[in-house]
Amino acid sequence: MKPVPRFSPGFAWPEARQALGAIASGRLVRGPGPSEFARELAAYLGVRHVFLTPSARMAFWLALRATGLPPGEIIFPSLTYYAMPAAAKLAGFTPRFVDVDEHLLLDLNAVEAAINENTRAIMPVHLYGRCVDMTALAAVAARHGLPIFEDIAQALGARWGDGPVGSFGKLAIGTFGPTKNITALGGGCIVTNDDELAERLERAGQSIIPAGSLAVLRAFGFASAMALAAWPPLFRLALWPLLRLGRARGVDIITKATDDPPRDFPVDAPPAFFTGGLGHLMGRFGSASLRALDHRNARRRAGGLRLAAALEGTPGVRAPQPREGETPIFMSFPILVDDPGAFADALLARGVDTARGYMSACADLSMFGAPGDCPRSADAVARMLHLPVHPAMTDERLDGVATAVRAVAAERGGPA
Ligand SMILES: Cc1ncc(COP(=O)(O)O)c(C=O)c1O
Repeated sequence: MKPVPRFSPGFAWPEARQALGAIASGRLVRGPGPSEFARELAAYLGVRHVFLTPSARMAFWLALRATGLPPGEIIFPSLTYYAMPAAAKLAGFTPRFVDVDEHLLLDLNAVEAAINENTRAIMPVHLYGRCVDMTALAAVAARHGLPIFEDIAQALGARWGDGPVGSFGKLAIGTFGPTKNITALGGGCIVTNDDELAERLERAGQSIIPAGSLAVLRAFGFASAMALAAWPPLFRLALWPLLRLGRARGVDIITKATDDPPRDFPVDAPPAFFTGGLGHLMGRFGSASLRALDHRNARRRAGGLRLAAALEGTPGVRAPQPREGETPIFMSFPILVDDPGAFADALLARGVDTARGYMSACADLSMFGAPGDCPRSADAVARMLHLPVHPAMTDERLDGVATAVRAVAAERGGPA
């Protein structure tokens, strides 16, 4: 099989045309791009307000402060991106971690058990483009009178029942980084139906400074370089040999270039939180990305379902199995295997590029006062490998990936 990269270009000609048009007109920062993008995204999600921010972590910090909730605990799944509980901590709250279920999503029984008089909110994370059971979670939250804050950073366009994720809670947080299924070359958002909260966010948001022209051009250059690197001939001739060389020395060069390792947040909001907001070019880019979202998500979904069917029951490999009620979008396709580093090396030798992923078992991070007791999350982080499932994958390549995974699993033996 021809080598398959772990990612595909995050954008295509429609987005590039918007970017080049903005550059040609000299309107990189000022212009209606962001407000129009926010309006279009609100209409897409069927919500009243989308408020754009420089990042998802800043969005969460700002939203928490704007809710006016008294200090207390916020329930998170332990398996999540550390920056979100870190932002909660920075806003004066205490992250309370519970374990994940067999789908690697918030375990609702554990949520119920963790609720106490200090609980202020619950944050379900729709991780890897899968959906938390929002019907069941809404019932738990209603029973205890608690608000839900959804993390939709990896699931924009996924649906639980008839509703898009992001439309169920008091608010939801999203991101538009260059590796996401929807990108504006950066930035994040708060989604809400609450008019009062939206008004408070508008006031607080007046201090946000949009990314300058140079930063926007740099982000466009970085995204273009990633798009080029994922182009199959270039991947085969340049990146794949480099990846293999790196792996032989125990280094994953893509992870090394993009890693954001958990670190302690400062005790005060860093001024950087308020810089890097969306300007005109970024807004236009986001709008074009939104128009392509359903088509690209459908390709991810079809690819994920094909891999799930092909890998079901493979000894030594635990693959995602979607359940009734969810319409996932497979931002990635995480499998759990023993010794994932060696498994990844064997797959790369067969032409399948994979990633270990960047989630943490947050309950075990010292910045949150570890150790916690969330063994499923710790096990997932220790054994996870992400298979390529991006929109550029053809059926033939997906089948090639599944065949390679089954062959490596058979070579290695291992538990059923
Ligand atoms: C699940 C999840 N939540 C939150 C974030 C944070 O996004 P940002 O980098 O915009 O702060 C990410 C980032 O990739 C993520 O994957």
